[in-house]
Amino acid sequence: MIELHDITKNYQTGDMTLQVLKGISFRVEDGELCAIMGPSGSGKSTLMNIIGCLDTLTSGSYFLDGESVASFDETALARVRNRKVGFVFQSFNLLARTTALDNVALPLLYAGVSGAERRERAIAALTAVGLADRLDHKPNQLSGGQQQRVAIARAIVTTPSLILADEPTGNLDSRSSVEVMEIFQQLNAQLGITILFVTHEPDIMAYTRRVLRIRDGYLGADELNLTPRSATAELAAFTDVIPLPPRVPVPA
Ligand SMILES: Nc1ncnc2c1ncn2[C@@H]1O[C@H](COP(=O)(O)OP(=O)(O)OP(=O)(O)O)[C@@H](O)[C@H]1O
Ligand SMILES: [Mg+2]
Repeated sequence: MIELHDITKNYQTGDMTLQVLKGISFRVEDGELCAIMGPSGSGKSTLMNIIGCLDTLTSGSYFLDGESVASFDETALARVRNRKVGFVFQSFNLLARTTALDNVALPLLYAGVSGAERRERAIAALTAVGLADRLDHKPNQLSGGQQQRVAIARAIVTTPSLILADEPTGNLDSRSSVEVMEIFQQLNAQLGITILFVTHEPDIMAYTRRVLRIRDGYLGADELNLTPRSATAELAAFTDVIPLPPRVPVPA
């Protein structure tokens, strides 16, 4: 569970203090799938980095599963990051000359997991995102949507309880975006993983029950959507609307 109380974040550049987050409070319960929206520069990535323990807050309090993160030192933050959180980024952040399998296995190498188990768990994660047949492909041999699915496999391979995704569909076409939403909905519904993601697209926001709107460093709105779209149903519809190939006239 994520609990933020009146958190602020300032950046100091030279003599200037930039107030980016100006007092944000909210709770996210375990098992929520939640979108964060807001204009460019409003502080969404800053907020995600604080929640993911990649950055520290200036004031306020942050409890993650009941632990006071604000008081953690760098070592404790790294421990939380590695054990609890999986990150997904807009630009995938895969190693270019490395296969899908090895990209996904990498966090397990850092965690000291043995070679055989790394391979087994990476294969399971890639299978979960529908890429069992792409294990040995390198990023440049995969579509953008497939690369993002590799990145999601890498995020889940360490079995985190929380996934944080900063504009995960920002570089994807609409079908690949819905595929990412399908994976998020499944991870959320089937494994109970809490997922927070940033998006600029109202279409993508519609797949979640909850939307937090950040405006100018404040929480502008906390909205409930009682009828989230089902990505699985939308993907079935996608197939339906693929036009039939033109009929070639058969010579008499
Ligand atoms: N490390 C930093 N040092 C100084 N200023 C920063 C730093 N990181 C972010 N900022 C500033 O904080 C503000 C919020 O940035 P942030 O990246 O959180 O916005 P965002 O809502 O994610 O925007 P976008 O939608 O464009 O990704 C911006 O004005 C940015 O310039
Ligand atoms: Mg951002």
